[in-house]
Amino acid sequence: MKILMTASEAVPYAKTGGLADMVSALSLALAKLGHEVRIVVPRYYGVDRGKLTQLAGAMGVHVGGGEEWCAVYTTDLPGSPTKNPVTVYFIDHEQFFGRDGIYGTPSEPDFLDNPRRFAFFCRACFQLCRKIAWFPEVLHAHDWPTALVPVFLKFGERQAEFANTVSVLTIHNLGYQGIYGKDNFGYTGLGWNDFYAAGFEDWNMMNLLKAGLYSADKLNTVSPNYAEETKTHAQGFRLDGVLRYRSADYSGILNGIDAALWSPKTDPYIPQTFSVQDMSGKALAKEALQKEFGLPGNPNVPVLGMVTRLAGQKGVGALFGPAYGSAWSICRDMDLQFVLIGTGEAWCENELHSLSGRLSNFKAKVGYSENLSHLIEAGADFFLMPSQYEPCGLNQMYSLGYGTLPIVRNTGGLADTVSNYEEKTGNGTGFMFNDLTPSAIYNTVGWAVNAYYNRRDHIEAMRLRGMKQDFSWEKSAKKYVAMYESIQ
Ligand code: ADP
Ligand code: GLC
Repeated sequence: MKILMTASEAVPYAKTGGLADMVSALSLALAKLGHEVRIVVPRYYGVDRGKLTQLAGAMGVHVGGGEEWCAVYTTDLPGSPTKNPVTVYFIDHEQFFGRDGIYGTPSEPDFLDNPRRFAFFCRACFQLCRKIAWFPEVLHAHDWPTALVPVFLKFGERQAEFANTVSVLTIHNLGYQGIYGKDNFGYTGLGWNDFYAAGFEDWNMMNLLKAGLYSADKLNTVSPNYAEETKTHAQGFRLDGVLRYRSADYSGILNGIDAALWSPKTDPYIPQTFSVQDMSGKALAKEALQKEFGLPGNPNVPVLGMVTRLAGQKGVGALFGPAYGSAWSICRDMDLQFVLIGTGEAWCENELHSLSGRLSNFKAKVGYSENLSHLIEAGADFFLMPSQYEPCGLNQMYSLGYGTLPIVRNTGGLADTVSNYEEKTGNGTGFMFNDLTPSAIYNTVGWAVNAYYNRRDHIEAMRLRGMKQDFSWEKSAKKYVAMYESIQ
């Protein structure tokens, strides 16, 4: 099958979260199954044009009220099978993408012109196919930034070479929908008779994700449990009605993890690789982690790690909320070390600095580091993810693979991938709690730390059990193929 992935992020070019990992890893897995997969992403400022090949000629893209001109660059995705590489195309438009930030900057988290930036990009995806004379059977869109791809296919583009093309929209995060003033609607190039409640219209605003959910041939999200949760009023972010309406075409497919990037057997970021047969590298990773964060190099104290966006979704309120968060009492009361790397909301970054100053066993780095994220996954004993909601979550799967026991809230993909510790039998792969409250987090971390000191046999057995889990992309990629094939 010919598949075009249209996305706002893809590793190694642009990443704010797991979406970027998923787009590239799924593409590679599909290519390994023999499909012809190409990816199209914007050429953000951070992507070095010097390393790419430019396609000849400028490309004109029709948008409402005129034409935008852009350049197209290309390269092969690293890790591609040699005989069937995944080609990546970059849409280069200086005014829209020649700036710092993917969706925004710390001072302007959501660029004012985002509806136009991404409407242009979605139109450009079709023009790209015409330019390279390559027409996919499947157009696969991800989240609100490319939700207009299925919309444009349905409203106007499904003709000529696209006559038999079908569309899929994957929801990675229902919390971000791309809701903008309807004065931006004209730029999409659609007419006002296409602006109605079972589509774009959302309380007199324009909702890009909602339009995509009504337009795509099939919808899915990134875990079976989250697919169910999103159909409820509590977790549907006001779109549960749409998802119930479309439930016959809506499913959950668990993300995999890219073992070429995330495996303790080959990881270049850790001092020594390790596996279930020989765990000595894990002890070295713990030592390196403690050193990196300036903590005493004690092998006997449990290390709790986190790698996260500092956003409400990740439960940082209950953990770090000034005056009520549980991190302070966890570090004060328990014999453990707590390390974190993250970026995000300013209040939370400030609180992390403040806690680091007041607690000797709490060390946080504010920033983004691939290197440290691998070291934390490998070197920590426990990995904390108290998410408010979690469509899939990749970090807990990475943790399991590195013998680091996840402590997670029982929600979304976390519930699909972690099984709760049973004291009686020693079964399970992690520690779970239901309520997003400071005391539930406190008690569950305490439970894990207690097991670390008093049930070491259980802890070691759980580590190995987690490492043996199969989260390969191959399994999930086959489910995507089945979904593509199911569309008439
Ligand atoms: P989400 O996409 O909601 O942020 P996921 O668990 O699916 O959550 O994916 C998060 C991805 O982003 C992981 O690959 C994780 O390692 C990475 N990540 C998040 N924050 C940082 C950071 N500060 N430094 C390095 N990697 C990070
Ligand atoms: C989103 C979700 C996360 C998921 C990722 C990749 O960012 O928040 O749970 O793992 O997308 O699908």
